[in-house]
Amino acid sequence: MKNVVFIASEAVPFIKTGGLADVVGSLPQCFDKRYFDVRVIMPKYNCMYQKYKDMLEYMTNFYMDYNGQSRYVGIFKVVHNGITFYFIDNEYYFSGESVYTSDMKWDLERFIFFSRAALSALPVIDFRPDIVHCHDWQTGAVPVYLHDSFHDGEFYRDMKSVITIHNLKFQGTWDVKTVEAFSGLSDYYFTSDKLEAYKDANILKGGIVYADAVTTVSPTYAEEIKTPFYGEKLDGLLRAREHDLRGILNGIDYDEYNPATDKFIFKNYDEKTFRKEKIKNKRALQEQLGLDNNDGAFMIGIVSRLTGQKGVDLISYVMDELCQEDVQIVVLGTGEDQYENMFRHFDWKYNNKVRANIYYSEELSHKIYAAADAFLMPSLFEPCGLSQLMALRYGTVPIVRETGGLKDTVEPYNEFENRGTGFSFKNYNAHEMLNAIRYARGIFVAKRRDWNKIIDRGMAADFSWHSSARQYQDMYDWLKP
Ligand code: ADP
Ligand code: GLC
Repeated sequence: MKNVVFIASEAVPFIKTGGLADVVGSLPQCFDKRYFDVRVIMPKYNCMYQKYKDMLEYMTNFYMDYNGQSRYVGIFKVVHNGITFYFIDNEYYFSGESVYTSDMKWDLERFIFFSRAALSALPVIDFRPDIVHCHDWQTGAVPVYLHDSFHDGEFYRDMKSVITIHNLKFQGTWDVKTVEAFSGLSDYYFTSDKLEAYKDANILKGGIVYADAVTTVSPTYAEEIKTPFYGEKLDGLLRAREHDLRGILNGIDYDEYNPATDKFIFKNYDEKTFRKEKIKNKRALQEQLGLDNNDGAFMIGIVSRLTGQKGVDLISYVMDELCQEDVQIVVLGTGEDQYENMFRHFDWKYNNKVRANIYYSEELSHKIYAAADAFLMPSLFEPCGLSQLMALRYGTVPIVRETGGLKDTVEPYNEFENRGTGFSFKNYNAHEMLNAIRYARGIFVAKRRDWNKIIDRGMAADFSWHSSARQYQDMYDWLKP
């Protein structure tokens, strides 16, 4: 039996800001329980849904020296869907209104605290992992600590560490002095072959340097991040570690995201009944959002963080042109002001065609995955992307840019060979995107049988966790034979 602990800053169903939470919450359930005991440690945020806070059971507490003070570390626990989740409690650090703040220095202090507290908690909860698997910059200090201060303890000896990069853009950087103080790590670590990058301290870099294995969430992104364009200035390091770097594609929870049983959607359907039933979701959503009742309008869904990563610039650039056609554009997302306001503006300008829902809603997201004809995701970069997988599962045809996980999961339609599950374009160019949308709409309007076959193939594709969980298991076995 191998013990594995995930240390991460978010996990469904407890708290979610993006795909990281989906992965950390659903992947542990998919390991072979005969051979792997996988548990999760995350912070106990005050902003977690009340329903979940109420489920947590207090275990114990201890005090830990951190940044010159003795700090309280409470531990809570819950078993959810067969997986044990532990929560690190500290009101000073985790009582804010959001998971991440706009103050990087404060977030560094909070998450380095969390990383240290999570490792310190292991003997207290009496779980000795063979593998410590951390995720993104927030837990990048973990492999460094395992190499440094925790290395001497008998309990921690021989523990292997893995870091998964879900998004290389966020690295956790601040000046060396500050990070030295937070982390308690010595000067030795703050050189350019270790935690320092471009004169600053860089926590993700520390994780990549010291982890025994590095993964990212799609094979294409694993290649891309070794190049300057996608490498976010760490491409040199990633090239240096390429033998320990793997791209393992994300999956989604096929029980949670299942149009046949989904309680959020208006009308359930499956791969046999979608031809008749899926349209009922579209009609009901048009009704709910006050859009024209129009079966023929090509409904394009967008569920996304509204940031530069997601290609919102391209959409903004051609919205006027796109809205000249018989389309409906339903957006659900939050993010940068300029993008939120851009969609609000077009909602006002083309009020019978565009709906800007600028908030977070699990329920509406499912309704959009079920109702839309197509799902637009023209990302500038995309480590994996889960939204397009959800769209495929719901028979909603993805239109994507060929990058990262989008390239690995959406097969472009080929009308001559009758292949493909979606539409794609290559360059980060608004009119290339518009052409792909027009091409898709053309098939939707004029060749509905072919369109439905695209849906058949998309719904038959399997992006559940099975094969990816196996790849993680193989990696754990390789690290600790
Ligand atoms: P990222 O993690 O980069 O945001 P992913 O595609 O991996 O992108 O995951 C995004 C997840 O967040 C999906 O589950 C998507 O449905 C969800 N999501 C994004 N924005 C919203 C929103 N405003 N309301 C509800 N769910 C959202
Ligand atoms: C990040 C990436 C996204 C990926 C998710 C889960 O948020 O932006 O592409 O799907 O992590 O790994």
